[in-house]
Amino acid sequence: MLNQLFRKKPIGAATGSEGEIHGAQSLGKHLSLRDLTFFGIAAIIGAGSFSSMGTACFNGGPGVVFLFILCAVACGFTALCYADFAARVPVSGSAYTYAYVSFGELFAWIIGWALLMEYSIGNIYVAFAWSGYFTNLLDGLGLHMPEWLTINYTAAHIAFDSGTTGEGTTAWNTAPMLAGLRIIFDLPAFAINAFITWLVYTGVKESRNVSNIMVVVKLAIIVLVIIVGAAYVDIDNWTPWMPNGFSGVMAGVSAVFFAYIGFDAVSTLAEESKNPQRDLPKGMIISLVVCTAVYIALALVLTGMVGYKQLGVSDPLAEVFAIRGVKWMLFIVSIAAVVAMTSVMLVFQLGQPRIWMSMSRDGLLPKRFASIHPRYKTPGFSTIVTGLVVGIPIFFTDENFILDFTSIGTLFAFVLVCGGVLLMPRKEREPGRFHLPYFNAKFIVPLLGMIALALIVTFDPNHFHRILGRTGGDVVVPMIVFYLLCVVMAWYSFRKQWSLIPVLGLISCCYLLTGMAVSNWKWFAIWLVIGLACYFAYGYRHSRLAPSAP
Ligand code: ALA
Repeated sequence: MLNQLFRKKPIGAATGSEGEIHGAQSLGKHLSLRDLTFFGIAAIIGAGSFSSMGTACFNGGPGVVFLFILCAVACGFTALCYADFAARVPVSGSAYTYAYVSFGELFAWIIGWALLMEYSIGNIYVAFAWSGYFTNLLDGLGLHMPEWLTINYTAAHIAFDSGTTGEGTTAWNTAPMLAGLRIIFDLPAFAINAFITWLVYTGVKESRNVSNIMVVVKLAIIVLVIIVGAAYVDIDNWTPWMPNGFSGVMAGVSAVFFAYIGFDAVSTLAEESKNPQRDLPKGMIISLVVCTAVYIALALVLTGMVGYKQLGVSDPLAEVFAIRGVKWMLFIVSIAAVVAMTSVMLVFQLGQPRIWMSMSRDGLLPKRFASIHPRYKTPGFSTIVTGLVVGIPIFFTDENFILDFTSIGTLFAFVLVCGGVLLMPRKEREPGRFHLPYFNAKFIVPLLGMIALALIVTFDPNHFHRILGRTGGDVVVPMIVFYLLCVVMAWYSFRKQWSLIPVLGLISCCYLLTGMAVSNWKWFAIWLVIGLACYFAYGYRHSRLAPSAP
């Protein structure tokens, strides 16, 4: 039984002609390096920069720039690991397929299940943020939508219960009633999801053209925001740099990490890419570098334009220009936000069905998930299911919960991808293919660990007392687990001469995970248990690797 749980998909089978192996139809090959890079940028810059960045700046002050750098480093190492896998296994399915060839079926399923959070659940947050800027835009045009049509039920209920004034309470008080229930829902969020689902359903070629245009528009406007905003920066606002200390900076980890999610979506387009082994790695890394530069500039401009305490809003980019009286920028920012978030949704809604398609081809999901629309050549059924998975929770979920949940699920998947690279055999160099540079971690990782320890003991002598609960506070379990993991990684790096990049990727992603609230870990655990139940009920028996498979 145990062997069966860890049965691995042979790399040859994963990279061979899927059509022949699985009797499935294949997707059209349209995408060049430029398209893939644009897809990456389309997926990365969105609600994180236009919405959740505000909360991160509010908690951490200007020092949040450190967190952007930390997340960029973690994502950079992970992108290199994705790139390594993408060059070995250039088929749709992303981290799911990579886990299947390295860790085996059970982990592959778990990763596929966790990716649902990144690709579908994350889009719920983006849809809410999109709706906020869209209604701003309509207000600017003098068209006001009633509050009960622009907020979700849970948020309105929470606002009413807490007795605050504002959109939520107004929505609760003015909502029409039907059979004793208040009708409150976010119509723009629902509508954008329906539109994107339709767009993706009708073909990747059309989606690509729309996506490329949106990336150009959003980058141009963001550069304008940075240039205009820089003229209003008052460097006094950068003091104090970390008003709530490093813990204040780390409080924004979900919000900042969310801003980086998306570079890996490029890897779901392997089958539609003209030269996946060369272009997927490059596309991921170029898009990540561009977005990191944009985020650091944006965070410096935001925290320089106004005091960090004024940034705790859901539309910080519009807020800073409103506060500084630059009215003409408000409209431009809202357009950029709407365009940016539309492109994020588009890429994620393209990615999710392709992961399901791979899982279905492997027998872990019913066959219908792999069916290709005869005319549009897209995974039609999976696309519609994705639209429902994003669309239905829009009626009842809360965006803050969604933000944390998405970040945990995605980091979890990243950790497994970095770990997966460590388990793969080293490969021969082949011209035209990406090759992960090998640096021996044998001495470097233990040495880095000792330097980190020396720095902690020097600059924060009470650190270990604090996390062990000896100074009166709670025991900080995630940090203890993290330090144990570091010791294990240093030991194995020394013993097995592991490759440095995946080791650092794994450690940095695990560090970011320590910033997540413990309550959200519980929800994540419940989510995983549900996933395992689904696996044993269906995937385990129907897998193509099952002994009874035809
Ligand atoms: N990184 C994507 C965004 O910020 C998910 O919207």
